Amino acid sequence: MDDKRQPMSGDPQVQPDPLLLTAQGLSKAFGGIQAVNDAEIHVPQGQIVGLIGPNGAGKTTLFNLLCNFIAPDHGRIIFDGQPIERLPPHKIALQGMIRTFQVARVLSRLSVLENMLLAAPHQTGEKLQNTFFQTHTIRKQEQQLKEKAHVILESVGLAAKVNDYAGALSGGQRKLLEMARGLMADPKLMLLDEPAAGVNPTLIQQICGHVKRWNDNGITFLIIEHNMDVIMSLCDRVWVLAEGQNLAVGTPAEIQSNTEVLEAYLGQ
Ligand SMILES: Nc1ncnc2c1ncn2[C@@H]1O[C@H](COP(=O)(O)OP(=O)(O)OP(=O)(O)O)[C@@H](O)[C@H]1O
Ligand SMILES: [Mg+2]
Repeated sequence: MDDKRQPMSGDPQVQPDPLLLTAQGLSKAFGGIQAVNDAEIHVPQGQIVGLIGPNGAGKTTLFNLLCNFIAPDHGRIIFDGQPIERLPPHKIALQGMIRTFQVARVLSRLSVLENMLLAAPHQTGEKLQNTFFQTHTIRKQEQQLKEKAHVILESVGLAAKVNDYAGALSGGQRKLLEMARGLMADPKLMLLDEPAAGVNPTLIQQICGHVKRWNDNGITFLIIEHNMDVIMSLCDRVWVLAEGQNLAVGTPAEIQSNTEVLEAYLGQ
């Protein structure tokens, strides 16, 4: 398809952002259903990229393929300069690609703080032979992780809930906690699957503000969302998927006035 991903500029000095994630020729069939069909997507470093499409278009499946939660039938995925399609999901996460789920996955019977601590990549001093140094190192790491968790929870307005069960949070707060957990891993790229779905309008505004702030701090985003206000306010570029295939890519304004895209939504 026509590659319109790079920003246009009259200034020849302006260099396009390098691609942090690029996937090509991705396909996945479930029995007779071709959920993703020779799809591509490119996410430039530092941008907020949207992924939209009618229900059942294959958006979540595409996320599952990018993170290797589901192995693709075909396709090539390069993240941060490395092919990742054969890496297990936890290794992809360690390389800096973190995803959230359409229905937030938090550990309901653990506290908000425990959820945060378990999300941090483990770096305990297993190689240290001396028990004294090992204990000291682990304690110090735990303290640092707790401090980091508190700073993140404070920044997303969940500080007061730190000792509550995650299961006692509202749906929107759970989505926020899932994003906050992702930040514990210092991601380069966050894939958010419908961060605004089922969330009240006030919290949606707050989530958009957090995403903008995290993006200003250097995190790149790929966001699936049906809420077009969220897509319009956040995204630099938007990719449209329909029946598993790329339908269009462009700025939010271009996509909003694209008749093929409107027809795909009306026809669902
Ligand atoms: N594990 C699975 N097994 C069988 N079929 C699946 C599986 N996962 C997805 N599908 C099918 O693949 C197609 C794409 O589903 P997917 O969840 O990726 O769509 P989506 O674009 O995320 O939709 P929505 O906007 O409703 O979340 C659908 O027809 C769905 O029923
Ligand atoms: Mg989905």
